[in-house]
Amino acid sequence: MPESRVIDATLGNGQDSLKIAQRLGAKGHLYSFDIQAEAIERSRELLKEAKIDPSQVSLIHDSHIYFKNYLAPEEKIDFIIYNLGYLPRGDKSITTVAKSTLKSVEIGLSLLKPYGMMVIAVYHGHETGKEERDQLAQYLSTLDQQHYHVFRQQFINQKNHPPFLYLIERAYNPAAPIE
Ligand SMILES: C[S@@+](CC[C@H](N)C(=O)[O-])C[C@H]1O[C@@H](n2cnc3c(N)ncnc32)[C@H](O)[C@@H]1O
Repeated sequence: MPESRVIDATLGNGQDSLKIAQRLGAKGHLYSFDIQAEAIERSRELLKEAKIDPSQVSLIHDSHIYFKNYLAPEEKIDFIIYNLGYLPRGDKSITTVAKSTLKSVEIGLSLLKPYGMMVIAVYHGHETGKEERDQLAQYLSTLDQQHYHVFRQQFINQKNHPPFLYLIERAYNPAAPIE
């Protein structure tokens, strides 16, 4: 869509943001968040090398619990992606954690347009990953199906702790509006 509004909630090395930025329409905008300056700088380089228009991507050095501080009032979002865990080639002790991930997902869901989508890639093999995985499952499984369709996709033939995906669609339900 030419005017898509997209959030990458966990920028990391910028691979997801790059793919999204390459597909943005002329008037689209991507907001990418990370708490590590290293992630912001690596991603800035990656996007520059790929000749992405910097005016279409906001690289935001802040936590994903603060989405709203960077959006226009009433701005709604088409697509939000999370890639949980630690920064590849970075400090493995700095990871996404249950409390802020849940808060951010809750805010993110409220920002989605009708038919907007959220994708969450859950990497749960690391120390704090299990608590985050379990709390997220608990929260997402209680979302009202009239408003959100929550789908889980996983490998069934991989050893150890294979990552899995949640795909969440915000339903359009004029008979039961959320706000
Ligand atoms: C698995 S990496 C993301 C990989 C990335 N999507 C890519 O394509 O390279 C997870 C990232 O989440 C970041 N992170 C952790 N807590 C965060 C928070 N509260 N807000 C925003 N980013 C956070 C980490 O610093 C790390 O860079």
